[in-house]
Amino acid sequence: MPWFQAKFLTMLAAWASAAAYAQWPAIDNENLAARLSSTTKIYLPGSNGFNASGERWSYLEAPKVNIVVVPATENDVVQTVKFAALFNLPFLAFNGVHGAITTLGRMDYGIEIDLSQLSSVQIAPDGMTAKIGGGTLSKTITDTLWPAGKETVTGTCECVSYLGPALGGGHGWLQGHYGLASDQLVSANIVLADGTLRTVDAQSDLWWAIRGAGHNFGIVTSVTSKIYPRTQTSWALKMFIFTGDRLEALYQATNDHLLKNGTQPVSVINYSYWVNIPAIDPNAPVMVFYIIQEGTTAVSPTFTSPFDALGPVSTDSLSGTYRDLAAWTGSALDSPVCVKGAGLANPRFPIYLKTYNTTAQRLVYNLYASAVSSPGSPFSDSSFLWEGYSTQGVKSIDSASSAYAFRGVNDLLIAPTITYTVTDAARDAQARVLGNQLRELLRQGSGSAAQRAPAYVNYAYGDEGPKGWYGEEEWRQARLRGLKRKYDRDGRFSFYAPIL
Ligand SMILES: Cc1cc2nc3c(=O)[nH]c(=O)nc-3n(C[C@H](O)[C@H](O)[C@H](O)COP(=O)(O)OP(=O)(O)OC[C@H]3O[C@@H](n4cnc5c(N)ncnc54)[C@H](O)[C@@H]3O)c2cc1C
Ligand SMILES: *[C@@H]1O[C@H](CO)[C@@H](O)[C@H](O)[C@H]1NC(C)=O
Ligand SMILES: *[C@@H]1O[C@H](CO)[C@@H](O)[C@H](O)[C@H]1NC(C)=O
Ligand SMILES: *[C@@H]1O[C@H](CO)[C@@H](O)[C@H](O)[C@H]1NC(C)=O
Ligand SMILES: *[C@@H]1O[C@H](CO)[C@@H](O)[C@H](O)[C@H]1NC(C)=O
Repeated sequence: MPWFQAKFLTMLAAWASAAAYAQWPAIDNENLAARLSSTTKIYLPGSNGFNASGERWSYLEAPKVNIVVVPATENDVVQTVKFAALFNLPFLAFNGVHGAITTLGRMDYGIEIDLSQLSSVQIAPDGMTAKIGGGTLSKTITDTLWPAGKETVTGTCECVSYLGPALGGGHGWLQGHYGLASDQLVSANIVLADGTLRTVDAQSDLWWAIRGAGHNFGIVTSVTSKIYPRTQTSWALKMFIFTGDRLEALYQATNDHLLKNGTQPVSVINYSYWVNIPAIDPNAPVMVFYIIQEGTTAVSPTFTSPFDALGPVSTDSLSGTYRDLAAWTGSALDSPVCVKGAGLANPRFPIYLKTYNTTAQRLVYNLYASAVSSPGSPFSDSSFLWEGYSTQGVKSIDSASSAYAFRGVNDLLIAPTITYTVTDAARDAQARVLGNQLRELLRQGSGSAAQRAPAYVNYAYGDEGPKGWYGEEEWRQARLRGLKRKYDRDGRFSFYAPIL
């Protein structure tokens, strides 16, 4: 893109020197840098800050940028977006940098807006809501609410942002009580494509869209969210590890004793993943299965005994508080999933299902095992996630009330994550074919007439398209397209799962 590079370099030089001038009090008002607050950081290529701020969880089709702005205030985001519009430059919000959808790769130059300085949590005097900065990580929220005796729904992983998940729905441990993370929003400050900062709430037509398709409409610089008095202090987890021969028994027992046709208790969460643990089985993935229960120091035998009876290779029981869940399930700040910059590709191929179909799961297991457990497989670090959060709070909210489309089918959130070191296009293609085959086997076994797998946008690979991410219903697609034309006609917010 030589025409652009020439233009960008000129502009960049002007801007970088202007940034240095920004320290001076009396400066030309037209100058962008003069309008950025003094603690905004600007990183240029080759610098430590640029490198560190560009590290990601997945490097498959990662966005490419030429400059990093780290705004210190909401107004700095406004100024940066206006500046980008003036020069017709692409830009993208970077938050927890765990976004992995391949559409991000369409950004091949432009401005990274790193939201990490917009991190804050302020509990309102009445204790009913909190104001949360647009760049706050989920752990910061939990750690601030806990000593105040409060809780709310965030994603489960400590190193993921609050709003990255929430703008696409937002699954978390407490969703069985209160609904999705996006269901907690009361209002949002959002910088729109034209650079205006608007406060939107239920009075705005945008309100429906930002709770499920929010990445498409602006940069959210802060939100007000509902918080609740903490209900349970104790949480317990029991872990079982099974070899693959127990697959049918394990998931039939889960259907029968846990999911129970949509009537599993709100206090119970099940969660499993398939990974290689060669010390246990050198030839095939093992199935690690958790049952989590709140309000107790040990998971009730009512739930655990059917699984003990299946002959697990090992078990473990843990007891603590809500704040221990991330470490127990491998999603704490110091867990491997929080490592960035390792050069790994981590594409996922999600599908929502209502129940486990052990016939389909056996086909999936055999294909997965042959691909990830064969000697020398480049995909041996892959993991296959089967998440069974409780869903009462999610299902109690009217499905038409937000752009999140899957309340009727989201009992189980399932996703193979094909992990490998980035090498070449052939390996990327091999991973894509494998992931899509695994997902298609699950879709065929789902008993659903839908031709398209319902795909949680925040886990999506990138080839599912708007109907896969935002629902098949024509009214949803039409409403989203209409709002997109109204608020982002030029597609400035179209790198992450674009509507148009
Ligand atoms: C280890 C791991 C654990 C996860 N756990 C959960 C979970 O428990 N629940 C769940 O629902 N999802 C979960 N996810 C999926 C998660 O929702 C997505 O990966 C999400 O994109 C991560 O957001 P981020 O801020 O970390 O990533 P980023 O890459 O920084 O952001 C992703 C995209 O979101 C947009 N964006 C981010 N912040 C803003 C903002 N303030 N305003 C406007 N747009 C913004 C941008 O388009 C950006 O490209 C998990 C993912 C991983 C890798
Ligand atoms: C940043 O990364 C580039 C490219 O990998 C490298 O050449 C440069 O030395 C790095 N800069 C710093 C300060 O580490
Ligand atoms: C697992 O979660 C699903 C989805 O919420 C639920 O239907 C099922 O009963 C749960 N199983 C167990 C064992 O908790
Ligand atoms: C599960 O629930 C559905 C809808 O409520 C019902 O039609 C079906 O018969 C139930 N199945 C079982 C096995 O209880
Ligand atoms: C389970 O999956 C198999 C394999 O795809 C399929 O033939 C069967 O119909 C599915 N069962 C249900 C109840 O949908």
